[in-house]
Amino acid sequence: MANRFEGRVVCITGAAKGIGRQAALSFAAEGAIIVATDIEADAGKALVAEIEGSGGQANFISHDVTSEDAWRNVIGNIRSQHGKLDILINNAGIGMTGLVHEMDYDLWRKMMAVNVDGVFLGVKYALPLMREAGIGNIINVSSVAGIRSTANFSCYCATKAAVKSFTKSVALECAEAKDGIRVNSIHPGIISTAIWDTLIGTEESTSSNMPRDATLAGMTGEAVPFGRTGTIQEIVNGMLFLASDESSYMHGAELVLDGGLTAG
Ligand SMILES: NC(=O)c1ccc[n+]([C@@H]2O[C@H](COP(=O)([O-])OP(=O)(O)OC[C@H]3O[C@@H](n4cnc5c(N)ncnc54)[C@H](O)[C@@H]3O)[C@@H](O)[C@H]2O)c1
Repeated sequence: MANRFEGRVVCITGAAKGIGRQAALSFAAEGAIIVATDIEADAGKALVAEIEGSGGQANFISHDVTSEDAWRNVIGNIRSQHGKLDILINNAGIGMTGLVHEMDYDLWRKMMAVNVDGVFLGVKYALPLMREAGIGNIINVSSVAGIRSTANFSCYCATKAAVKSFTKSVALECAEAKDGIRVNSIHPGIISTAIWDTLIGTEESTSSNMPRDATLAGMTGEAVPFGRTGTIQEIVNGMLFLASDESSYMHGAELVLDGGLTAG
């Protein structure tokens, strides 16, 4: 499997932590040149140092995905540094729970901005650069919440369903344009990352006074047919597959990695 992405330029948003961070490490391990972006600069720079320490190539750009100017800067930077963008992974995302009638409108708009506007802007600004090279691959990170809704998650579910539908529509546009660009969405199940911190507490201490992993394991026991959470690497493996030529006939598709959560 080594070096499937030799010389390919891969931009990953939300790369400072969690799934995005592991994606950056895994693509770099297979020869990709990583452009890691995030609002968390210290963690992003530490990631780049780790990749370079292992002999890989990477750079970090401070980037709020809700800012159109910041997207222009990221894509302009990639154009001037590399002259092409092979793979874009729109991964940055935030989570929030709450009953709809109690939900703060500003929080609703913030989540829409990060989870939906961020993906729209990424696709809008990446496509022209990809089309110039006549090749490209876009992976938008949705969720099982974009497929099956749950109470108390209305905003998150709405954002992730939007990402799913948006992905399919863009895929059809790309096919009509015959631009050779593939566009798919990926739908992780329950994965223990910091995105859960605002929902159940941090890794060390949660609302149930158990570590995050244990709390999530308790939640998944009944809900997930596999009876366990997924690992970050299991989601990244799906990204590697979607970005590789092994998935060359996948377009406008939903790659669901959820231990059977949405099967029933
Ligand atoms: N962990 C799960 O259970 C799960 C399940 C389904 C989908 N997802 C999705 O996977 C993606 C990655 O989440 P994760 O679990 O790794 O969470 P995480 O919190 O560990 O990582 C998210 C990253 O996004 C960054 N980010 C947040 N707001 C941003 C902004 N405005 N601009 C740029 N970066 C920003 C954060 O700084 C962080 O580094 C998200 O889109 C999330 O919705 C996660």
